[in-house]
Amino acid sequence: MVKLICSSCGREYLPTYKEYKCSSCGGLLNLQFEAKFPLNEIKRRKPTMWRYREAIPIEKDESIVSFDEGFTPLLLIPINNHKIWVKQDHLFQSGSYKDRGASVLISHVKEIGVKSVVEDSSGNAGAAIAAYSTKAKIKCDIFVPEKTSSSKISQIMAYGARIHKIGQTREETAKAVLREVENKYYASHVYNPYFLQGTKTFAYEVTEQLGWKAPDVVILPVGNGTLLLGAYIGFTDLFKAGITKKVPKIISVQAANCAPLAAAFSKKNDKANFHVKSTIAEGIAIAVPMRANQIIDAVKRTKGHFVTVNEEEIMASFEEMARNGYHMEPTAAATFAGVQKYIEESESRKNEVIVSTITGHGLKNK
Ligand SMILES: Cc1ncc(COP(=O)(O)O)c(C=O)c1O
Ligand SMILES: [Zn+2]
Repeated sequence: MVKLICSSCGREYLPTYKEYKCSSCGGLLNLQFEAKFPLNEIKRRKPTMWRYREAIPIEKDESIVSFDEGFTPLLLIPINNHKIWVKQDHLFQSGSYKDRGASVLISHVKEIGVKSVVEDSSGNAGAAIAAYSTKAKIKCDIFVPEKTSSSKISQIMAYGARIHKIGQTREETAKAVLREVENKYYASHVYNPYFLQGTKTFAYEVTEQLGWKAPDVVILPVGNGTLLLGAYIGFTDLFKAGITKKVPKIISVQAANCAPLAAAFSKKNDKANFHVKSTIAEGIAIAVPMRANQIIDAVKRTKGHFVTVNEEEIMASFEEMARNGYHMEPTAAATFAGVQKYIEESESRKNEVIVSTITGHGLKNK
């Protein structure tokens, strides 16, 4: 049975609940559901993220909104003389991993009969929600910061969504959308826990592609943490179901210019010395991540840590990866600057099975 549970007061809601937070205390909602993995059946199904059907909390097959997404290649790529498994999640319909979350969230929206949604984003989540909404014939309004890449804005508009360019920062855009959601369904990748039920399939696919074995380490970019939290849920689901023997260590990468989570993790988050500057990694430029406590808790539980990367390091990784044929967004390149740092931290890393991912396609760059 699927339940929405308030992370602050514990109040429970049915999946048909349409508010974006707890109506009693305003707390964030989490989703509780037991994922099942009938392995023999899964192996016979189409190679998409929906092959883990019993692990995705959508009741009816007719509700599913899908482009047969997922099961992206997992390539072994040399980085600093180490071979790293890299998931090619820039190869989704809308060009970023956000399609994982959008497919499940918009399927849920369709299942509960919602006809119009609103979402705010740095661009990629908005593009994914717009693509799946138009497929489901659901009306869509997307709020983005004014300086969002023009390619992402034209992509969102091409899907037929209405675009609202509001605010200089992600936080100003997020505030503007909250004024809208009084009367509209908020298909938020940050607040809505169904989004994480899609991003968690990253963990299922990686594990299946490694022969149903969890890797030792997963290195992920983090802004609002929708990939990190999804990955944590996914690896934990597999561990709880007895399929894997461990949950991998999660290494979280932030841009040094906007690293509130890394600062809080190392307890240097005193307001006096915490400054946010702009970064080319626009997708992870989140100064106030709503699920900060959950993200830090997930990293701690897996005995992982945070790595921060500066603008020069991000650009250097962008260029190096592109020279090897991997054209990605600077946000995605930040991850590989983080991979480099992680490898350099210790010789022993040579023996670890490390997985990372290209989260967004370079064709989205202006
Ligand atoms: C390309 C890319 N990578 C990574 C992220 C980070 O995702 P999250 O904010 O959920 O941590 C984003 C978010 O927009 C993104 O666009
Ligand atoms: Zn509550």
